[in-house]
Amino acid sequence: MLPPETGLDAWLRYAPLSETLRSQHKQLSHIVALSDGSADPVSVAGQELQEGIRKILGHSLTVSSRHDGASSDSAIVVGTVSAFQKSGLSAAVQSLPALEEDGFWLDSGDGNGAHIVGQNERGALYGAFEYLSLLAQGKLASATVRKAYNPGASIRYVNQWDNLDENCPHGSIERGYGGKSIFFRDGFVLEDLSRVRQYARLLASIRINGCIVNNVNSSHELFNETNLEGLGRIADAMRPYGVRIGVSLFFDTPRGLAGLPTSDPLDPAVVKFWEDLTAKLYKRIPDMLGYTIKANSEGQPGPLTYGRTLAEGANMFARALKPHGDGIVMYRAFVYNHHLDEADLKNDRANAAVEYFAHLDGEFEDNVIIQIKFGPIDFQIREPPSPLFAHLRKTPVICEFMVCQEYLGQQSHYVYMAPEWETILGFDMRIDGKQSLVRDIAGGKVHGWKRSGYAAVTNVGDDSTWLGHHLSMSNLYAYGRLCWDATEPAQDILLDWIRLTFSAENSTVIDTIRDIGMESWPTYEAYSGNLGIQTLCDILYTHYGPSPGSQDGNGWGQWTRADDKALGMDRTAATGTGNAAQYPPEVAARFENIETTPDDLLLWFHHVPYTHKLKSGKTVIQHFYDAHYDGSQNAQTFPKRWASLKGLIDDARWEHVAFKLAYQAGHSLVWRDSVNNFYLAKCGIPDEKNRVGNYRWRIEAESMQLEGYEVVDVTPREAASGGRAVVASSPTKATATTRNPFPTGKRDIAVNYYDHTGGHARYEILVDGKVVGQWTGDLDTRLLHAFSEHVDGHSATRVYFRGVEVKEGAEISVVGYPDGKDKAPLDYISLLPEGVVD
Ligand SMILES: *[C@@H]1O[C@H](CO)[C@@H](O)[C@H](O)[C@H]1NC(C)=O
Ligand SMILES: *[C@@H]1O[C@H](CO)[C@@H](O)[C@H](O)[C@H]1NC(C)=O
Ligand SMILES: *[C@@H]1O[C@H](CO)[C@@H](O)[C@H](O)[C@H]1NC(C)=O
Repeated sequence: MLPPETGLDAWLRYAPLSETLRSQHKQLSHIVALSDGSADPVSVAGQELQEGIRKILGHSLTVSSRHDGASSDSAIVVGTVSAFQKSGLSAAVQSLPALEEDGFWLDSGDGNGAHIVGQNERGALYGAFEYLSLLAQGKLASATVRKAYNPGASIRYVNQWDNLDENCPHGSIERGYGGKSIFFRDGFVLEDLSRVRQYARLLASIRINGCIVNNVNSSHELFNETNLEGLGRIADAMRPYGVRIGVSLFFDTPRGLAGLPTSDPLDPAVVKFWEDLTAKLYKRIPDMLGYTIKANSEGQPGPLTYGRTLAEGANMFARALKPHGDGIVMYRAFVYNHHLDEADLKNDRANAAVEYFAHLDGEFEDNVIIQIKFGPIDFQIREPPSPLFAHLRKTPVICEFMVCQEYLGQQSHYVYMAPEWETILGFDMRIDGKQSLVRDIAGGKVHGWKRSGYAAVTNVGDDSTWLGHHLSMSNLYAYGRLCWDATEPAQDILLDWIRLTFSAENSTVIDTIRDIGMESWPTYEAYSGNLGIQTLCDILYTHYGPSPGSQDGNGWGQWTRADDKALGMDRTAATGTGNAAQYPPEVAARFENIETTPDDLLLWFHHVPYTHKLKSGKTVIQHFYDAHYDGSQNAQTFPKRWASLKGLIDDARWEHVAFKLAYQAGHSLVWRDSVNNFYLAKCGIPDEKNRVGNYRWRIEAESMQLEGYEVVDVTPREAASGGRAVVASSPTKATATTRNPFPTGKRDIAVNYYDHTGGHARYEILVDGKVVGQWTGDLDTRLLHAFSEHVDGHSATRVYFRGVEVKEGAEISVVGYPDGKDKAPLDYISLLPEGVVD
């Protein structure tokens, strides 16, 4: 049996290679890390190589910091170009190809020693991790690598949205689904930063060079004396891995922290405040990378609050940074009015970024970088790239992704997002009629920017899985890889991650996880929101479960404009919001015309009748119905395919993932039924295949005989089968009883119930008085996030009891034992013939 793994080492577990592969590696003599210190990236590289080679090959090597001529042939030498030159190894670096900042040269040397040469110390560490990655995947057994590696972008950052929580003891993370903060607790930086060090190690291995450590909704208490020192300790913990830290600033800090009467960016006292604070920060963190600013966004104060332009606000921070080095201001373009009037057909949140920022191009200091979410709205299941990428020429940009799956299942569903990111990165904006891929814009090539690149909201937590789901770590891994080389195919990246995380050599493991991973995005899209309509989750609450109605009728501007005849946003210039025209002319023309708009963005750009025919020949509404059936059907295969890996990976991780995939399969059916019934009710057009609204094997709880249960209407209606559910009116025990109306036979009994926070109700299901299943409603602890306090589409879920013999007429009862606010809610049971999904 394979030893249990926690996931803490993620893709850096350095699992032993098989004897066959091990035997193809010659014994190395020792490791030389050309370093003067003990906590710099090169000495870390030496330790990492030592540990990695010991675990992967079983060879114990010593590490020395000096190169001695004689035995060098079979050593691994790691260091910077200049350290190689100083150590009498000039010949090894004489004719290297050009290395850019953070780049490296790797010569794996036929098993006769290797050279890992960094342009800087960080590059040397990256080279060591690359060597170990190749080794661990068995890729150095039969091949020699001699290659220069250079980054595609200089900015490769992660953004943590961790809260300081000065008012409530938590360690909370905005949109965090993997436990508590590894940085902060109860208003302070944690004493024990060992997880921060381990995080920096993971980041360095995927060549991430910066981490903004706190939430964009920042707090001024972060900068009091105690916490400044704490930030310094975080920087110290990450520095050996070449990861620099930055902080998010709260615009109104001068008022909040210093008691100034204003935070006006042109007020001399305010300017001085930021200069002083910046000087203090640099005193403790000399290599601080800069500031992230979210201002005038979602109710936050900003320069506009004080009658100044966004550029004036950004420039104030930029000037404060300048005397101290190369610090940058990462000014988020997420500025929009969240009280938009939907009645005005010209209003469009997707227009906001261009409206607020395009005309300011040229007005920013040269150390201001505009950080733009990849799409115009907010990390939806599918979006076109933000049009702002085409407007800024003088002001460099950061393209922002989200590794945490806020709108894509929150790490309770698995969605490998790199294929979606690829559609953005490879999108050609046609600036000035010339090829201008988003990845070349962000990488700085199109406009010749020196500093630009990527940031991703990452939100790891203190759970040993980091993100709450072992498989979701493929997203963090892929993000780092794409920052470095945005042309790498998502599938190749996934395969490397699988080999490192689960098995380097067993093709059953590799192929199975690859297939689940590559199908996961289209699958989630199919059962969440199709044709560019957005994710269709509940945007007014936790952004998790289905609630298509929540998109409209409010000021947030994530509208679908669905009525009884038609749906979709008309973003054309001719009749709609004009958003299509924000793109350069060739792209604008494509999106303006319904014929040339791809089906998967149809409803993003056009308002069409439900009966509009797609290029596939299907109507929009039938496509919705079919996609939700196909997607949820495919989600049912994930746990089955995962089951085939039992014994091929360790049980601990196998069980964790099996549980999550089974949960996902159940919740995908909630999605299917909610979305389909919502649109059926809207437009009244029935499903051609007669599935929507007809559930042959289902028995509604509200139609059962109830004792201690009462019937309630569920909001939104489509979150319950038939719009209603039952909840316990008795504080202790409630029973719903029915008789099997179907012929005798083996059944998979599915129970749909609601599992929300506020208590852990227990349930039992009995057939003819015999208990055939029991469970506890404790998903909030098992899934690691509190997605709902209510009976709704977030908390709706399903459990199965399979292969139960049920006689015709048998008495079936579900017994709920409420706990606190959790009143053991129940929606329906299904008595499914084996193999049937419904
Ligand atoms: C710093 O802020 C924390 C709350 O985050 C507070 O508890 C602490 O007393 C403050 N320390 C100083 C020196 O002001
Ligand atoms: C910031 O605060 C606003 C308003 O309270 C909220 O809507 C938004 O979700 C928060 N965002 C983050 C990243 O904390
Ligand atoms: C994967 O491992 C299992 C168990 O050791 C073995 O039966 C199977 O043949 C392996 N598959 C491949 C393709 O190596």
